[in-house]
Amino acid sequence: MTLEKQTILSARDLSKTFSNGSVQQHVLKNLNLSIYKGDFTVIMGNSGSGKSTLLYALSGMDRPSMGTITYYTGDGKDETQIQTFNNDKLAMFRRDHVGFVFQQNYLNDSMSALDNVMVCGLLKTTDRKALSEKAKKLLNKVEIEENDFRKFPTQMSGGQQQRVAVVRGVINSPEVLFADEPTGALNSQNTENVLDILSDLNDEGQSIVMVTHTIKAAERGNRIIYLADGVISDEIDLGPYVGDYKNEANPMIEEARSRHQRLKNFLQDMGW
Ligand SMILES: Nc1ncnc2c1ncn2[C@@H]1O[C@H](COP(=O)(O)OP(=O)(O)O)[C@@H](O)[C@H]1O
Ligand SMILES: [Mg+2]
Repeated sequence: MTLEKQTILSARDLSKTFSNGSVQQHVLKNLNLSIYKGDFTVIMGNSGSGKSTLLYALSGMDRPSMGTITYYTGDGKDETQIQTFNNDKLAMFRRDHVGFVFQQNYLNDSMSALDNVMVCGLLKTTDRKALSEKAKKLLNKVEIEENDFRKFPTQMSGGQQQRVAVVRGVINSPEVLFADEPTGALNSQNTENVLDILSDLNDEGQSIVMVTHTIKAAERGNRIIYLADGVISDEIDLGPYVGDYKNEANPMIEEARSRHQRLKNFLQDMGW
């Protein structure tokens, strides 16, 4: 039996045009894309190809110029088109259904790690006790210890800060976690660490859509989409991540190597 993947989000004829005085720049051009539940979808493409613009449109951070964005939430029972929502409705939709991690962590420097997460959670629930338990559990999961809950962002390493930002991104159990170059500002150890966290979340069922320009990060995805000049050139189904292809202790190293090679070949075909 093959299980049909459930569509969680579908963009149709999506266009985004920026006007700079009299000059119009068509950044997304009649793009069609569906995102499936449980997938770790990765969007790659050259700088300026429209990756962030696409992510912002899909996530309701910004509105497209044309086209529709439909979410299928509540196990597919609720169908919501978000492209015509005003700012308030969009903000409410984001609060209830999407999470976000950026390259910069955008933590509030005047709040502790725990409070940065709590503030986001309190937008959705009034049950402070249950929320605090959930926040602490998630912080523990990303290896932020009890002692560090009260630390301010400036007292934490860049890696720790980004881990807190990931927790904030998932505190409201979003249908989709969007990530725009989430490891772009991290050193290699912290990059590995944050990618492991994203992989773990995905293993537990979290749908993720991540923009990246590194193969290392892209390898975490099971579906890689290549964007060129505002349209999707092609995509590849890599299957689930099976660990580091360079780690000799990885029992699945052969499969990991072949996966890595397939991704490299794909990107080469895309002229990357
Ligand atoms: N708010 C904006 N106003 C005007 N132009 C923009 C805006 N956001 C993005 N662009 C332009 O759209 C193009 C694609 O940007 P972006 O989506 O950030 O690309 P990527 O993330 O793939 O590097 C770039 O040429 C950028 O200058
Ligand atoms: Mg970008």
